[in-house]
Amino acid sequence: MLKETIDPLSLQYENTRRYFTEFISQREHLLPYLKPQKTPLLLMDLQGIKSRYIEVKYHFSQFKVYYAVKANDHVDILKTLAELGSGFEVASSEELKKVLELGVKPERIISSNPVKPMDFIAYAYEKGINRFVVDSFTEVEKLTKTAPRSRVYARLVVPNEGSDWPLSKKFGVDVDTALDILEYAQSKGLIPYGITFHVGSQCNNFRNWLIGIKKASELWQKAKLRGLRLQMLNMGGGLPVRYTYEALRIEDIAYYVKGLLQKFMPSLPHELQIEPGRGIVGDQGIMVCRVIGKAKRGEENWLYIDTGVFNGLAEALGGIRYPFYLERDGELKEWTIGGVSCDSMDVVARMVPLPEPEVGDYLYILSAGAYTTVYAAEFNGFPEPEVLCL
Ligand SMILES: Cc1ncc(COP(=O)(O)O)c(C=O)c1O
Repeated sequence: MLKETIDPLSLQYENTRRYFTEFISQREHLLPYLKPQKTPLLLMDLQGIKSRYIEVKYHFSQFKVYYAVKANDHVDILKTLAELGSGFEVASSEELKKVLELGVKPERIISSNPVKPMDFIAYAYEKGINRFVVDSFTEVEKLTKTAPRSRVYARLVVPNEGSDWPLSKKFGVDVDTALDILEYAQSKGLIPYGITFHVGSQCNNFRNWLIGIKKASELWQKAKLRGLRLQMLNMGGGLPVRYTYEALRIEDIAYYVKGLLQKFMPSLPHELQIEPGRGIVGDQGIMVCRVIGKAKRGEENWLYIDTGVFNGLAEALGGIRYPFYLERDGELKEWTIGGVSCDSMDVVARMVPLPEPEVGDYLYILSAGAYTTVYAAEFNGFPEPEVLCL
């Protein structure tokens, strides 16, 4: 009798191979750039970004989209999205400057950074931005002084379980504190405008949206009882993309969220917003790097590449598992991938199935479009990846 066994290494690598082949076959214009002279290189597909934006707009049809610039602030990406009519969420003066330089009007810009530097608030206000998040009394005081009569929205804390990149530990408050903050804002002459929450980046857990909307609904009712007339609900980011596993589909999340809104907020807020970053650009980029070394350390097979956690792959430190692909055949082994710097923290991935590479081989890192180059520095003198948007 034939006994079939499924080898998990081959299964995982086969998925990555399929992903790579599909990605490139749908983007033939990237082909000539897959073996560049200079690496690391991040290739971004602008047409893919356009399609993703349109897909998000289509499924979240009641929502205004504010692209979270922090995910990837390359000017070509911002320009593409600006031309499509996207709004922008900015956290700093530099991000804001980039967006304004494209001629985007302040009415299309918000800032959901809960703790903003004073000089950023002043610059944003001077440029006509007047919608800011708050999650502390101190932030209300700062805005009162520097951006009087602005509209403010309170950030609720919601669970981030099942999100590969949690964001709830540092920001957000409970419903009653949010209520007090909004009331305080009103007493200071600011305009209580709405509510926001973030389910955590790369969120694959429907429940986080459920809790977020339930809490927002509770705050909405309580605010009404206190005479605060809120207008807006902002659901932050969190839309996931494919990495080593398939993510939740945007249409399923949108459908689920619509149902939740009908159930918990039947008289819909005047304005619904989302701030996707990763969900727009994450799987529209591929990082091309090269193998620069190999070693056997005990039982572990190591390969070293010319990028790393300090110059492009910071999220590898916190739970993002990129798919890696090499154009070689041969027996698969499990590899630990070390980054280019001398720091022993600079390990990009473990237990990665790959055929045996040679020094100089190109290694392709899929789904590298978000939170890569924006984090990059030149630690140890190694360059940040160049970015080509095509
Ligand atoms: C306030 C805010 N909005 C939106 C985003 C974008 O989130 P994502 O990339 O998960 O879509 C972030 C990410 O850190 C954020 O902090």
